[in-house]
Amino acid sequence: MNLKTLINGNKIQFDRKFKKLLKEKLNNSTLSKAIYYGSNNGGKRIRPFLVNQASKIAKINDNNSFILGASIECIHSYSLIHDDLPCMDDDDYRRGKLSTHKKFNEATAILAGDSLHDLAYELISSSLKNVNFSTNLKVVNYLSLCLGHKGLALGQSLDLEFENKNIGKNKILNMYLNKTGRLFEFCFASPFILANCKAEKIKFAKEYGLLFGLIFQIADDFIDENGTFKKIGKTPGKDIKQGKSILSKAVGKEEALEICNNKIKNFKKKYKNFLRSNGILLNILEYGLKRLY
Ligand code: IPE
Ligand code: IPE
Ligand code: MG
Ligand code: MG
Ligand code: MG
Repeated sequence: MNLKTLINGNKIQFDRKFKKLLKEKLNNSTLSKAIYYGSNNGGKRIRPFLVNQASKIAKINDNNSFILGASIECIHSYSLIHDDLPCMDDDDYRRGKLSTHKKFNEATAILAGDSLHDLAYELISSSLKNVNFSTNLKVVNYLSLCLGHKGLALGQSLDLEFENKNIGKNKILNMYLNKTGRLFEFCFASPFILANCKAEKIKFAKEYGLLFGLIFQIADDFIDENGTFKKIGKTPGKDIKQGKSILSKAVGKEEALEICNNKIKNFKKKYKNFLRSNGILLNILEYGLKRLY
C-alpha cells in the first residue's frame, strides 16, 4: 500500500473517533462551536499518522495511540487558530475555509485556542489506559516541555521576531525546530515513552520526529510560496509578503533541499539498525521531503 493511501486511511479512522470524542466533551455554547470548527475543518492529520506508526513499533494499545493523537491534534489546532490571528500571521483562511477568528471573532478564537490546549491536557491526563501513574506523568511533563517557552511557543515568538530581518540559516533552522519540530518530536517519541522503552530507542524516536518536523516546515514554507489557494487552503505567497524569514528565501531552494538531504543521510548513518527493521520510516521522511518538489 502506498503512503498516501495509508495516511488517508488513518485520517478517516482518526476523524471518526475524534469527532465522536469532541461531541461527547463539547456542548452548545459559542465557545464549543468555535473549538469544534477550529479542530475539525479538514486537516491532513499527519501528526496522528506519525503517532500511529510509532505506536505500532512501540506496541502500545489502540486507545492510547488515539488519545495521544487526539491530544496532539488539539494542540496543533490551538496553535493554528492563534497563528492565524491578526496579531500573528493575520490569515483569513485556513484549510479552505474562514479562519476561526473570521468565522467567530478574535476573543472567541483566542479562547477556543486556550480551551483546545487545556483539552489536550485533560485527555492525556485522564484517558490513557493501563499505564502506571508515573509513566503517565512523564508523558504529560514531556508534552509541556515540547510546547512552552523552550518549544512551540518559543518558535512562534522567534518567527514573529524574525520578520523583516536578515536572519541566517542556523537561526531559521532553530526557529523551525521549535515551532514545528518539537510537536512532531512528541508525536513520534510519546508512544515509546508510554511503552517504557530503553533510553536509546526514545532518543532515536525524538530525533526522528524532530527531523521530520524540520523537513515538514521547510516544505510548508516552500508550498506557501508556490502553492495555490485551492491546493493549500490558505492565502498563498503570505510568507514573502509578510517578510517572514524562511529557509528557501535565505539560501535558495537548491540549498534548502541539500540541507534536508544531508540531514537524512546523517540520520540514516547514525540509526541504520533502527531504520533497517522499520523500513517505512525512511519512506515517511522521503514523503515529507517530496512536498518540496
Ligand atoms: C501546518 O500544519 C502548520 C505547520 C506546522 C507547518 P499542517 O500542514 O499539518 O496543517 P493541517 O492540519 O494539515 O491543516
Ligand atoms: C505554523 O507555521 C507553526 C505553528 C502553528 C506552530 P506557519 O505559520 O508557517 O503555518 P501556516 O503556513 O500558517 O499553516
Ligand atoms: Mg506562523
Ligand atoms: Mg501561519
Ligand atoms: Mg506556513
